[in-house]
Amino acid sequence: MKNIVILISGGGSNMQALVECVAQKHWAEQGIARVAAVVSNRADAGGLAYAASKGIETAVLSHRLFDGRVQFDAALMALIDGFKPDLVLLAGFMRILTPAFTQHYAGKILNIHPSILPSFTGLHTHEAALAAGVKVHGATVHGVTAQLDFGPIVVQSCVAVLPQDTAETLAKRVLATEHFIYPQALTWWVDGRMIWRDGGIEILNPAGELPASQTYFAPT
Ligand code: GRF
Repeated sequence: MKNIVILISGGGSNMQALVECVAQKHWAEQGIARVAAVVSNRADAGGLAYAASKGIETAVLSHRLFDGRVQFDAALMALIDGFKPDLVLLAGFMRILTPAFTQHYAGKILNIHPSILPSFTGLHTHEAALAAGVKVHGATVHGVTAQLDFGPIVVQSCVAVLPQDTAETLAKRVLATEHFIYPQALTWWVDGRMIWRDGGIEILNPAGELPASQTYFAPT
């Protein structure tokens, strides 16, 4: 049984999509994979109640209790490792991670970011996309490296930017695609199709099947 640990800071809608994916595929019943824990750095993260309602172990570790990032990340690693993770999924986890943390989980940690990377790293991506006047926006699932919002790209979604869009309307449509591409990436990992090689991530295609689409275009 593979253990997945999901890190959140807020509403946790991506975490919910991942938990629903695990349930729908019946991975836990088959002894394949389960969400071992949902961990938050904020006690008021809305997603904690959802995880608990699904019988998933939850834990809170407030970064405010620590003098700095190094100390917090060391405690966070100890907490996560207690769940014997095979995969760590950052799902709206709003903390910059230290190199010690990203190295510790190298090759087994993914993030979702609400932009088509490498455009619009950091916060306020929807505002930045509107300000830049781009006509296509979206989200990215990527392997996590020491560099913020950087690392090998697994799958990206594309959303048309409409003339009447506000940051809120755009965020809503991008988030809907996140709920599709993150479970897709998780499914490739669970199926053993996600291979981390030479700093990149390759998605294997079983013989006789069409290549996996690593792009999702939201219908307009
Ligand atoms: C998502 O847009 C995610 O890409 C970003 O933070 C947001 C989290 O939303 N990193 P939720 O907590 O998963 O609902």
